[in-house]
Amino acid sequence: MWPIDCIEHKRDGKVLTKEEIHRFIDDYTAGRIADYQAAAWLMAVYLRGMTAEETTELTMAMARSGDIVDLSSIPGVKVDKHSTGGIADTTTLIVAPLVAAAGVPVAKMSGRGLGFTGGTADKLEAIPGFRIELPEDQFLQQVRRMGLALITQSGDIAPADKLLYALRDATGTVESIPLIASSIMSKKIASGADAIVLDVKYGDGAFMKTKEDARKLARMMVDIGRLAHKPTRAVITSMEAPLGTAIGNSLEVDEAVDALSGRGGRRLMEVVRAIGAQMLLVGGKAGSEAEGEQMIDDLVASGKGLAKFKEFVKAQGGSASWIGKRLLTKAPQMFTAVCTDEGYITEIHGRALGEIAMAMGAGRARKEDPIDPMVGIRLFKELGDSITAGEPLFTLYGKAGADMACIAQEIASHIIVQSQRPDHIEPVISEIIT
Ligand code: URA
Ligand code: CA
Repeated sequence: MWPIDCIEHKRDGKVLTKEEIHRFIDDYTAGRIADYQAAAWLMAVYLRGMTAEETTELTMAMARSGDIVDLSSIPGVKVDKHSTGGIADTTTLIVAPLVAAAGVPVAKMSGRGLGFTGGTADKLEAIPGFRIELPEDQFLQQVRRMGLALITQSGDIAPADKLLYALRDATGTVESIPLIASSIMSKKIASGADAIVLDVKYGDGAFMKTKEDARKLARMMVDIGRLAHKPTRAVITSMEAPLGTAIGNSLEVDEAVDALSGRGGRRLMEVVRAIGAQMLLVGGKAGSEAEGEQMIDDLVASGKGLAKFKEFVKAQGGSASWIGKRLLTKAPQMFTAVCTDEGYITEIHGRALGEIAMAMGAGRARKEDPIDPMVGIRLFKELGDSITAGEPLFTLYGKAGADMACIAQEIASHIIVQSQRPDHIEPVISEIIT
């Protein structure tokens, strides 16, 4: 008897039919299936898994549970970019204006940060006057006019995913590759993209702890994209250490401006080049990865990416007069810690630094928490760099009244300096899945 038979089929390891999956999602979204039944079904999926075809049907059912954004009035291949969530990850702020400057339209909906990872929407809101919430017609018009707009999720995107995610969170069923893959891809498909480039992260600071699991998740999402006729590619990246050097919202905007001005860090620019090249490839503007990477380098060197960033900030009501002249970050207190040893940076515990920045007010523990855009941590070194005693290691930006010396001491304990050059530094990018 419906829906018990659908739960039993998955419990017994059967492959569900397209009809079963769509009916289950439609009925649950409409309130015709109880939470305890959906929870049992999720646990069966968690334990038994799903084929690529089942996962694609689940994705499509969740995508169609609410609004589907219609980007067809924008000419060209609309390419979306998504990261599974990182620390010091400003890639979107850098790569979106770069590929837009090359003629790939970017009509992107970005999330807010939760927990120790940041969200692009919060970063942009650090810019005075910036409006992250635009009516849909204005959003579309801006992309048609200048090739780039970034807003928070508008309308009712994938409500089935919202309901199921809350249930997963409460029932120990979050860490399932088909459930994560369908959750992410349903929102991308409902957001109207023609093609998708994913940054799938692994490591201490990521959802996926191992490279192997990140690869499986990426493979599943790329397969869903193909089956849903949305060309999808995934870059597998390490989150063993922060990607860039800035943790905190206004600091990350400053880092993006630096990167667009040709002063980006090694690890960050490696990811920008790889993601940018894939976006140019699927967007039909580059013929090969090498050509795409060269185009990204040229757009940075010519200043065209930075010009597009300024144009975009102004279009959404933000102040752009500071760009290229001074830093955006103005915190009440600053404290710079210097290194007491000589050697090499062998570890930077990204997750711990993200948690410290969050506790200072850079992120939210709960959805409704306010954010302080000016607080955070700016590192002066990357993983593998050499350092000498007396060189600055990081600057802490704090609220009035914060115990800076105490926080700095805690941060310092998460940056490991050893006298020996490390014999292996995990490469940032391990693979590109197509
Ligand atoms: N991000 C999502 O959007 N969904 C998941 O299930 C996990 C990460
Ligand atoms: Ca680690």
